[in-house]
Amino acid sequence: MKEDIKEILFSEEEIKNRVKIVGKKISEDYKGKFPLLVCILRGAFMFLADLVREIEIPMSVDFMAISSYGGRTESTGQVKILKDLDTPIKGRHVLIVEDIVDTGLTMDAVTRLLGTRKPASLKIATLLDKVERRKIPVKVDYYGFRVPNEFVVGYGLDYEEKYRNLPFIGILKEEIYKGKE
Ligand code: IMP
Repeated sequence: MKEDIKEILFSEEEIKNRVKIVGKKISEDYKGKFPLLVCILRGAFMFLADLVREIEIPMSVDFMAISSYGGRTESTGQVKILKDLDTPIKGRHVLIVEDIVDTGLTMDAVTRLLGTRKPASLKIATLLDKVERRKIPVKVDYYGFRVPNEFVVGYGLDYEEKYRNLPFIGILKEEIYKGKE
């Protein structure tokens, strides 16, 4: 797998250190609020697993699986819910945990949907933020790292379901996906 990576952006250790900081901030901001962390499957599973271990306050988790229609490396913003939450979120402090915000279309659709269920608050924590690519404004409340306009994989993020198990985040070589979109 490593031979398909052009450049490592964030090492295992860098990710660990940064996730610790984000977890600490969330612990402070949500003190006494018993937040519900909503993990967006599948990309955010690793971030969630590490993040919750850095959160020092009572909290709960739930999972939502969505698929976005579109090309292999690009989303269209039309999201389809493959698995909805099991938890009612009315009156809860909901924190969405996402792997990467790219165009913003997915997070826009998800926040709209969850917003209709009347949570007490609704915020976004994303591991990666590809700010340059935004097509629609999204308020990112917590982020791990900003990334350049490149296709990245590892630490939960995939290309065609591959590379999720890499412990670091790296830029995928273009030749792997070029011509396949
Ligand atoms: P958006 O709707 O364009 O913001 O895209 C968000 C989704 O697209 C993420 O949840 C990822 O699943 C996927 N995505 C966007 N950029 C990347 C990337 O660089 N690597 C892997 N997946 C990505």
